[in-house]
Amino acid sequence: MRKRIAVVTSGGDAPGMNAAIRAVVRIALSKGMEVYGIRRGYLGMIRADFIPLDSASVGGIIEEGGTILRTARSPEFMTPEGQRAAIENLRRIGIEGVVVIGGDGSMRGALVLARSGISVVGVPATIDNDIFGTDMSIGADTALNTVVEAIDRIRDTASAHERTFVVETMGRNCGWLALESALATGADVVIIPEVPFQLEEVCRIVQRRQRERKAHTIIVVAEGAGRAVKIGEEIQKCTGVETRITVLGHLQRGGAPTAFDRILASRLGAGAVEVLTHATEPLMVGLHCGEVVTHSLEEVVSKQRRVDLRLYQLEGIFSI
Ligand code: ADP
Ligand code: F6P
Repeated sequence: MRKRIAVVTSGGDAPGMNAAIRAVVRIALSKGMEVYGIRRGYLGMIRADFIPLDSASVGGIIEEGGTILRTARSPEFMTPEGQRAAIENLRRIGIEGVVVIGGDGSMRGALVLARSGISVVGVPATIDNDIFGTDMSIGADTALNTVVEAIDRIRDTASAHERTFVVETMGRNCGWLALESALATGADVVIIPEVPFQLEEVCRIVQRRQRERKAHTIIVVAEGAGRAVKIGEEIQKCTGVETRITVLGHLQRGGAPTAFDRILASRLGAGAVEVLTHATEPLMVGLHCGEVVTHSLEEVVSKQRRVDLRLYQLEGIFSI
């Protein structure tokens, strides 16, 4: 049984990271382990920014967005020197296992630690929901609900003025957030990186809706497929229809986690500690068909979670 473990949040923050930290700490303590928090992701590992965590230090955080451990993107950890420093610090403090909570980049970083002989387990947390090996990543459900609320509000003003809006969501190279929010709001067009799009086709839809005197046209674009500003300008140029642009930006990452994310984070955090006590290879915990499952980290980083293109087809039919 590993006695001293650490937990770190890394990469883009995601609502529910705090709930995952809480679960890791409380489950580990219940097993008689000692837990350290590493602040600011891999940067904190390099700088030996470790703090002991007890049960009280994770009290009252289950409902908070962000991460009490802070997070960072650490270019230094991408270098052999940075990795060496991080690994030396973990060894010096006597950390026997690390729970890495973060996105796909963070999972790659976890694998670096594992290859040097440190036990690691990954916990998927990203609003992009692009990690292979889990149906849902922590934070994705909250971000989706935030986007849906935003688009619902935009639709009110769009209808009032009979306007065409282009709304840009985050998601990096993945269209999950855009596609699911388009489905949930009844958006008229969705543009995602997984499906090549023709601007002329989008323009035809805008013109048809104008002819049919529809109250509004809402186009949702995933940031990985194009920039809303540019697409809006091009639509305006080609159709003569005035467009308005909303780039939702970082508000999609903040806010209190939904009940779904709190429960998911609690289950995956607990599962991660369980895995650390007996796993002999680096694993990531995930959710599949309602159950907590594990996948090898090697497999997780070598594959990409795909959006369900059947949902894209559905969205196309609904918006006719
Ligand atoms: P996310 O985890 O949200 O996808 P990033 O892609 O920025 O966010 O990754 C978080 C951090 O993980 C990076 O800043 C870097 O320190 C580390 N990381 C990412 N990719 C690698 C890699 N291939 N090797 C080692 N570390 C990596
Ligand atoms: O990975 C989460 C994410 O919010 C992406 O959707 C987005 O492309 C990126 O992080 C933004 O990163 P930053 O906060 O560093 O600007």
